[in-house]
Amino acid sequence: MQIETGELINITDKGNNLFHLIIKADKIADKALPGQFIQVYCSEGESYDPLLPRPFSLFRIEKEKGCLELVFRVVGRGTSWLSKRHTGSSLKLLGPLGRGFTDPREFSRVLIFAGGIGMPPLFSVAEVSKEVDFTLFYGARSQGELIFLERWQQMTDQIFLATDDGSAGQQGNIVELASSLLDSGSADFYYACGPRPMLKAVKRLMAKLKIPGELSLEERMACGVGACLGCVCRTTSGYARVCTEGPVFAAEEVVFNE
Ligand SMILES: Cc1cc2nc3c(=O)[nH]c(=O)nc-3n(C[C@H](O)[C@H](O)[C@H](O)COP(=O)(O)OP(=O)(O)OC[C@H]3O[C@@H](n4cnc5c(N)ncnc54)[C@H](O)[C@@H]3O)c2cc1C
Ligand code: FES
Repeated sequence: MQIETGELINITDKGNNLFHLIIKADKIADKALPGQFIQVYCSEGESYDPLLPRPFSLFRIEKEKGCLELVFRVVGRGTSWLSKRHTGSSLKLLGPLGRGFTDPREFSRVLIFAGGIGMPPLFSVAEVSKEVDFTLFYGARSQGELIFLERWQQMTDQIFLATDDGSAGQQGNIVELASSLLDSGSADFYYACGPRPMLKAVKRLMAKLKIPGELSLEERMACGVGACLGCVCRTTSGYARVCTEGPVFAAEEVVFNE
């Protein structure tokens, strides 16, 4: 893990307050693994406001080009600042951070559950291998938020969509959709990232089908390196820091509040 000044190579407004960044950051890209994240300092010059860096998952890791790609939603001051950067801007980064996903090449059939802006880290794990047969369940509030669908379609033709408003795929959520399609022989592993209620429902469904998997969790973070205990979550072996023991956890370890 290190601090690196990256160069913003490209920024694209994907609509619905969603943005895509390509950042040249050779050293972090060289070490980064799918499921890990970086912290981005969302202030510049003498300004330290906001003081704390903001965590973002890695959507793509292009080691040969030394590039990282992020996808984020504008929700507050840090992400608003980031969305206004221009090509050629410098970005102070810290990473790669946390524990990533188990290598998908250990499995033959994998399920991916992506909820809204939880999609980015799952794309990087799916890109690891073209040999793994995976099925994507991708849900969002509406069609416009199902971004990079065309890139997913280049990787698999097994894609099932659900939206809250029914504008794409089935109306409802991806867990209801998956429960009507899957059985215990459908896969030997799964990866999931998205809102907590979705992760809880995915974990329950997969436990019923006896399919093991991993969940990528999000918590508000401060230091991002295990020092402040600001990001703890409950696990079966006590409290764990999402920034260091996670953000990826074995699903059976995660304890959700009822
Ligand atoms: C490991 C990890 C990976 C992440 N990856 C991504 C990603 O790939 N794309 C993306 O868009 N976002 C991601 N996030 C969330 C992102 O870090 C926050 O949206 C961002 O820090 C908000 O900063 P802000 O200054 O814009 O918002 P603030 O002004 O700090 O907060 C605005 C609102 O957002 C809420 N919020 C802030 N941080 C979080 C959080 N971590 N989880 C839930 N709600 C939050 C606040 O409660 C508040 O309501 C990730 C978070 C973590 C912990
Ligand atoms: S953010 Fe400080 S311990 Fe995790």
